[in-house]
Amino acid sequence: MQVFFILNDGQEKIVEAQAGATLLDVISENGIPVIGVCSGSGVCASCQVKIAPESAPSVQPPSNQELDVLEMFQADDGVRLACQVTLTEQNDGLRVILL
Ligand code: FES
Repeated sequence: MQVFFILNDGQEKIVEAQAGATLLDVISENGIPVIGVCSGSGVCASCQVKIAPESAPSVQPPSNQELDVLEMFQADDGVRLACQVTLTEQNDGLRVILL
């Protein structure tokens, strides 16, 4: 599947991804400038990204633990922890905005 990352300068980077990978896996494998300080444990919130509104319905909802972390860091609507978003076949064409 393809995932589209909208970079801070407005450019798009299109990468290939596999179902079962997390967004942070895809980010790390493709040199996208997002850091996962806690290596995907879901506690540091350094890997925040925003799911584009048109893509939000295809993404699995956050767990209670992820919601707690997002709330603690006062994340805006649509923001997710990249390490906690596991891709499924429904995510082909997913659009992710870097913060
Ligand atoms: S890498 Fe720390 S919360 Fe995602």
